[in-house]
Amino acid sequence: MKIQIINGPNLNLLGVREKSIYGDSSFETYFATLKELFVGHELYYFQSNKEGEIIDKLHEVGFEFDGVVLNAGAYTHTSIAIADAIAAINTPVIEVHISNVHKREEFRHKSMLAASCRGVIAGFGMDSYRLALENIVAG
Ligand code: DQA
Repeated sequence: MKIQIINGPNLNLLGVREKSIYGDSSFETYFATLKELFVGHELYYFQSNKEGEIIDKLHEVGFEFDGVVLNAGAYTHTSIAIADAIAAINTPVIEVHISNVHKREEFRHKSMLAASCRGVIAGFGMDSYRLALENIVAG
């Protein structure tokens, strides 16, 4: 299967940023582990701090790939435009979060994207991405 992982704003700083919340591994390091775990599948990784670039990537893969794993970072809580992009494409999107957003500030409890996604996985650290991939490869 062809699967796109998309990380949104500030997630380029994983391993550096607020380690007590997000852990000490960079996504690039964890991505190598994911590729080993899902050998036989085509995994692609894209990160952007810009809303429009995330939308462009969803359009690019969204009629061809088998699944998208999306951590939209803070855009999760604000972006009607990303929600519309998810609704517009055919490829199923799974929303993921490293932290348990429901244990955190109230503004993180609301997702603008969740209703357009297949499902949401939050709070399992980097393992949230693996759990989302398991769902996609299960079909
Ligand atoms: C996050 C949670 C968001 O609220 C936050 O803005 C992030 C990361 C997570 O993975 O836990 O940037 O999506």
